[in-house]
This record gives sequence, structure tokens and C-alpha cells, in this order.
Amino acid sequence: MNLSNRTALVTGSTDGIGVAIARALAAEGARVIVSGRDNARGEKVVAGIAEAGGEATFVRADLAEGLSAVRALAAEPIDILVNNAAMLLTPEPTAEVSEDTIDRALAINIKAAFLLTGLVAPGMAARGHGAIVNLGSINGLTGSAGSALYSMTKAAMHSLTKSWADEYGPSGVRVNTVAPGPTATEKTAQWGEHIAPLLARTPSRRTSTPEEIAQAVLFLAGDAASNIHGALLSVDGGYSAV
Ligand SMILES: NC(=O)c1ccc[n+]([C@@H]2O[C@H](COP(=O)([O-])OP(=O)(O)OC[C@H]3O[C@@H](n4cnc5c(N)ncnc54)[C@H](OP(=O)(O)O)[C@@H]3O)[C@@H](O)[C@H]2O)c1
Repeated sequence: MNLSNRTALVTGSTDGIGVAIARALAAEGARVIVSGRDNARGEKVVAGIAEAGGEATFVRADLAEGLSAVRALAAEPIDILVNNAAMLLTPEPTAEVSEDTIDRALAINIKAAFLLTGLVAPGMAARGHGAIVNLGSINGLTGSAGSALYSMTKAAMHSLTKSWADEYGPSGVRVNTVAPGPTATEKTAQWGEHIAPLLARTPSRRTSTPEEIAQAVLFLAGDAASNIHGALLSVDGGYSAV
């Protein structure tokens, strides 16, 4: 298989899109480290991967806890890092966003990925190969009233991809972004009516599935993308193109 003998760490793989990413990487032969805060959901994802013939382990970490939590995830050499975990935010006016919410969003959505990449990428560079995929968003590409905080964190991921591509690319480490549009997960099912206007102007007229996002991550993580560095791959039904 394509990714056999590679270890992949997927943050936020106890729920939503991260589960599909972990499954897709495992199906291609990678040994996957599933991560998140919820032990029960994490173990369920690991069991599902094992049932499908793949290999996975769960490492619990609360990314809001900073460097100590992130160190637990980077305890062994990683070949593929997917910075997927994020705190999704309910839209609200900027003036009503609490300082605590700002601090948590910055810590989970940006700082944890920054620290984790700083722990993992030098090892990849020393070994001369590695792939990092950051999850961005259409929110990081366009402005959106009520989503300033979330959008800022996703735009930061787009920016980090480019800086890290420049920093680690010469050592054989590829860094890229997958930018989803609205994607059907248990949590986003509650957004129904809010995303209807957005879908009405989306060429595909529909949300993505987590598996469609996972296929884009899989492509960028694997050797088929061997000379793709610093790119942003939108999986949004064409929303950001029109
Ligand atoms: N769904 C969409 O429509 C959409 C659209 C554009 C971009 N995205 C991006 O895609 C990625 C995945 O989104 P999603 O919709 O799958 O989100 P989700 O369903 O809310 O899942 C988020 C994952 O992150 C983990 N997580 C959250 N806070 C954490 C913390 N403090 N420490 C460790 N793990 C934490 C959660 O695990 P625990 O609960 O176990 O902690 C969960 O596994 C995110 O980067 C998001 O910005 C999503």
C-alpha cells in the first residue's frame, strides 16, 4: 500500500472530518495516531480502523493545554502530520466575543499546530522526508460578518502553510493546506438553514462529505503530490472559485 511504513498523526480525529482522514490514511497502510480529548470516541475510531484491517493507536491530548499536551503527541517520529483539530465557533458579533473564547480559539486552532509542527517538522527534515497537511477553510479565504475570530484562525493556517513550505521544503518536507467548505458532520448538521444561502451560490449546490475532504488530505500527504509545496486545495464545491 501507498503509505505503509509511515506513521501519521491526525489531530482532532475523534470526531468529524478527522475521523475520515484517520480512516483514509490507515486504509492506505499508514499507522495512525488518533488524537483528541475524548477517550471513548478515540478508542472507537481506533477499533473501527483495526476492524477494517488497519493499524491505529489513540493518544489523548487537550490542545488548549499548550506545549505539555503537544509533547505527548510528538513522542515518536512522525512521517505525516495532519493539523486538523479546531474549535468551531458559533457566529457572533465581534464585540460580543469573550476574551476567554479568543484565547481558546487561538490556542487550539493556531498555537497548538504551531507548537506541534515545531516539534515534528525538524525530525522530518533530519530524515529528509515528511508531509504536513493543515486544515484551513473557505472562512480563511473570504470575510464573513460574525465569523471574524474563526476566520482569522483559519487564515493563519493558510499563512503558516506557506511559511513552513519555505522553511522545511528544502529538507524534503512538504507542507500544504486543504480548505474545506461546509462539510456534513454531526456538528454541522445543526447549521442547516444558515448554510443554505451559501450552498445556493456554490457550483456543486451541496456540502462536502468528510470522506471527500479526507481524499484531498490523502493526496497531499502521499507521494502522488511529491512536488506540491505550499499549495491550498479547496474542497468546497467550487464556492471559492466563483
Ligand atoms: N465541518 C466543516 O464544515 C468545516 C469547514 C471548513 C473547515 N473545517 C475545518 O476542518 C477541521 C475539522 O473540523 P470538523 O468539522 O471535523 O470539527 P469537529 O467535528 O468539531 O471535530 C473537531 C475535532 O477536534 C478535536 N478538538 C477540539 N478541541 C480540541 C482540544 N482542545 N484538544 C484536542 N482536540 C480537540 C475534537 O476532539 P475531542 O472532542 O475529542 O476533543 C474533534 O476530534 C477543522 O480544522 C475545521 O476548522 C471544517
